[in-house]
Amino acid sequence: MIIEPKTRGFICLTAHPTGCEQNVLSQIEYIKSKPTTEQPKKVLVIGASTGFGLASRITSAYGSNASTIGVYFEKPPSEGRPASPGWYNTAAFEKQAHKDGLYAKSINGDAFSNEIKEQTLKLIKEDLGEIDLLIYSLASPVRTHPNTGERFKSVLKPIGGTFKDNTVDFHTGEVKEISIEPSSGDDIKNTVTVMGGEDWQMWIDLLKSANVLTKDFKTVAYSYIGPSLTEAVYRKGTIGRAKDHLEATAFKITDTLKDIDGKAYVSVNKALVTQASSAIPVIPLYISLLYKVMKEEGIHEGCIEQIERLFSERLYANEVPLDTEGRIRIDDWEMRDDVQAKVLELWKEATTETLPSIGDLDGYKTDFFNLFGFNVEGVDYDKDVNEMVDIPGLQ
Ligand code: NAI
Ligand code: NA
Repeated sequence: MIIEPKTRGFICLTAHPTGCEQNVLSQIEYIKSKPTTEQPKKVLVIGASTGFGLASRITSAYGSNASTIGVYFEKPPSEGRPASPGWYNTAAFEKQAHKDGLYAKSINGDAFSNEIKEQTLKLIKEDLGEIDLLIYSLASPVRTHPNTGERFKSVLKPIGGTFKDNTVDFHTGEVKEISIEPSSGDDIKNTVTVMGGEDWQMWIDLLKSANVLTKDFKTVAYSYIGPSLTEAVYRKGTIGRAKDHLEATAFKITDTLKDIDGKAYVSVNKALVTQASSAIPVIPLYISLLYKVMKEEGIHEGCIEQIERLFSERLYANEVPLDTEGRIRIDDWEMRDDVQAKVLELWKEATTETLPSIGDLDGYKTDFFNLFGFNVEGVDYDKDVNEMVDIPGLQ
């Protein structure tokens, strides 16, 4: 079939297999251009199909020839209906990994559930025996609690007061003020339950009690801080409370890993266009200004560049560099004073008329469509493609 982008708000309902494959191959090429390292060797990535998790899987496999198991939640294709992008990404990754003699298998299902955890444990026991790295890169709006069956929804709201500032509709380029009502009721608790650290801890507890974690095992979850501009909706909003909880959980997990000298880290990553971030108000306008500044400075990175740097210069450096709160920082270039000062200046000038020149709206849009395999260089979109793609290592 011919597959075209079909957008609704900040999501795209279709995905292109060839475009997704091309994105994955480009990420693989990037990692192959870097020196090969010794670690990690046996890696479990939760949230492995898109964004930072996919980049973590690719960096593991092609940076140090690691065996990888990926867990994700993606929609398979059906006749005439393309799969979700993470499905095609995973298919492309596993196809290439197998060609290159790398172990790569995956599990598609709800990572929050006991069933998927047990299935993953079984696969680790059967195939790898143990793992030395677990990357926790879930981004989900909902979580069904495995013990009670209760379904929690996360919200993106400020806490304490109404938030008013500009945002951009990146499809139309319209810059306009939005107003978001503060959280109420159980909003904070629910968001922490979905995006906080409880599920990460559950994964570790299960795998630790089954003795499948190596000595010196490491685990990393991803967080975000960002500038004062987005603070009210992000870091000091409901999602920020979940990130606070996730960060606190890292210390708890490190405690539970003491006897195997294991360590849990949170890595604070850069703001990037992913399916998760395009859903957050204000962030698209911030990102389009940030991209402009970082590209001009020659310090722009995508997920793969970020994670390559995380592995080579942080996680597997002689000593893991941490901030005063004990976190890994790979948002260091985004947060540079000169970068933030420029973004703030541009923010004041940003209107529907000025944004195309003072911001990188095109870069934002391209990245957004790229997430779904569209607007990818070198792909012929007029060519018929088979939407029914299999994932070779899917269990
Ligand atoms: P993403 O939307 O690209 O990836 C989410 C992944 O989680 C996908 O693999 C998806 O299949 C999987 N997933 C979602 N629900 C699942 C479920 N119930 N069971 C199994 N898998 C499930 O998101 P992105 O942006 O890569 O986010 C990953 C982490 O990085 C999040 O914690 C996010 O907060 C963090 N982060 C994101 C930044 C950004 O600007 N995009 C910046 C800094 C941190
Ligand atoms: Na390499």
